Amino acid sequence: MLKPNHNSCPRSPAPFEQVELPTLLLEAIDYLRLFHQEQSLPEAQLQKRLAEIHQDYRHSRTYWQTKEEIAYGAKVAWRNHSRCIGRIFWESLIVRDLRHLTTAEDIFAAIVEHMQQATNGGNIRSTISVFAPDLPGQPGIRIWNPQLIRYAGYRQADGAIVGDPDQVELTEICQQFGWQGQGTRFDVLPLIIQMPGQKPQWFELPPNIVMEVPMTHPEYDWFAELGLKWHALPAISDWRLEIGGISYSAAPFNGWYMSTEIGARNFGDVKRYNLLPVVAERMGLNTRSKLSLWQDRALIELNRAVLHSFTLAGVTIVDHHTASAQFMQHWQREAEAERIVPADWGRIVPPLSASTMEVFHQEMQDVCLKPNFFHLSPLWITEKDVTANAQAVLPNDQQKRCPFHSHSDDR
Ligand code: ARG
Repeated sequence: MLKPNHNSCPRSPAPFEQVELPTLLLEAIDYLRLFHQEQSLPEAQLQKRLAEIHQDYRHSRTYWQTKEEIAYGAKVAWRNHSRCIGRIFWESLIVRDLRHLTTAEDIFAAIVEHMQQATNGGNIRSTISVFAPDLPGQPGIRIWNPQLIRYAGYRQADGAIVGDPDQVELTEICQQFGWQGQGTRFDVLPLIIQMPGQKPQWFELPPNIVMEVPMTHPEYDWFAELGLKWHALPAISDWRLEIGGISYSAAPFNGWYMSTEIGARNFGDVKRYNLLPVVAERMGLNTRSKLSLWQDRALIELNRAVLHSFTLAGVTIVDHHTASAQFMQHWQREAEAERIVPADWGRIVPPLSASTMEVFHQEMQDVCLKPNFFHLSPLWITEKDVTANAQAVLPNDQQKRCPFHSHSDDR
């Protein structure tokens, strides 16, 4: 029988536990048990560590985790993250303990180093940098950008957008801070880092550390003329890492790309670069008839171009068929370890040729195990929020969130 390896959330304390313990301690106990059990550490060591944590908690309402607890916790957070198809590699995550850094400048420098080490000349290494934890009753360190590398989106006078439409708000914020982009479709945004209780600071990334791949197609010579490129490193920076009740709101992490993320979503989505009509046109397809399946055919060629270009550039990438097979292998391995694989079907199944992959036919359970990553809401208030709040009856924080996505937000 498969059993969850860990507590599910919202957390319900098991009857044998001292229910009067604060959540933080209950979470700590849960994690420390998992840590000691999976690392085959002696029970005596667990008891000693728990006593220490209780002591710490009495003094400071929090506790300081060991390097090892963080290193393993970050890996398990990846393993537990129900949206990720690439979890077979969870144990190979490189964990950088950077909790000692106290200034935005130092954190920026450490992020630059992270990007260099993780990009590794194209041979991408999954890496996480863990900065100082949130303290009780205080906001944590925040990186405002959703990812370490994102392209700006510039709203034009006629309403059109140059660049990534997803980044229009952040781009405008960067501009308000005094940043000025070149105005191309692929301007890398600066990083905005905010220390607890301080004003946010922005930093331009040195261009030589942002590896990019120019897009060409294995057969269509004209494809290069589209002038497309994408960055090599997908590095998420707006999710907090939670281990044993301790929250790390600045803990950017990266893996490598699966081709559909770029070829289907970033390039293909109507609300992103919206390239299907352009590609279909160049392919000479009949874009006036849905029956010609021009969108599907253009999508395939975009994805072939992404795989071709990354491979040519020597940058790690995985196609969706391989990723699906790896995920199913991970599923199998986890079953052998008597663990379930929490999974969000809609996020796991790739957005292209779904039924050709085993993951499509697999039933999945999206349970929330911890450690895990939790999405953080943006810190800026947009005009939309202002209008929405003005019309709202109850001015609570929930209103900024999409009700259909609230499951991905903080609890
Ligand atoms: N989908 C996001 C993007 O296109 C990246 C998300 C993380 N992806 C990954 N392979 N680790 O930039």
